[in-house]
Amino acid sequence: MKFSIIPSVLALASCVLAAPSTLKPFLKRNPTGSFKLVAYSLESSVVDIFYSDGIAYAGDSSKWTYGSVTTDVTFVIEDTEVITTATTSGVTLDSDTLFYIRPIANQVLPVGFTGNGVTVPDDAVTTNFIFYGTYLMWEYDDGSLSDSFRARETNVTGVYELYYDFSNLYPSGYKTPVVKSSS
Ligand SMILES: *[C@@H]1O[C@H](CO)[C@@H](O)[C@H](O)[C@H]1NC(C)=O
Repeated sequence: MKFSIIPSVLALASCVLAAPSTLKPFLKRNPTGSFKLVAYSLESSVVDIFYSDGIAYAGDSSKWTYGSVTTDVTFVIEDTEVITTATTSGVTLDSDTLFYIRPIANQVLPVGFTGNGVTVPDDAVTTNFIFYGTYLMWEYDDGSLSDSFRARETNVTGVYELYYDFSNLYPSGYKTPVVKSSS
């Protein structure tokens, strides 16, 4: 499977990343300490990734009234896992709340979180995350990187459900955000 082109990063930063072959491990740089994840290219300003009932959303969490547990979150990355902590007052997430993607060929699948009694799909993957600069990437077995995040607007304007499009199908109806760390 060919998916190592990381198109959204190249689109945004082609002046920095001349070609995929220039991707070198020394540019992998995980944030130290806690950070937020933010999505660019969805709204006119950058939006935060938040948690609702085990699913990852982007936008203003206060506008999302449908979940039973909804919270803003911060993250730390440790041993390639992205550990998630609630920051909204009155909300606590389990200590094993990990960010996951589902890197399955030819499917566009929701991004979510483990823990908290929410059923996690068998194909969810919580390891092999790295940051390339501030860009959140997922590293495939062969060392290639992908950042194939997609977002589909919910029935609340400005609130998006986050997806992963492992084969870069670019399905219609989905936007192509860039997901980055922000402290
Ligand atoms: C909006 O989406 C939520 C979550 O999927 C759903 O529970 C709710 O019924 C929807 N509301 C409307 C007005 O369609």
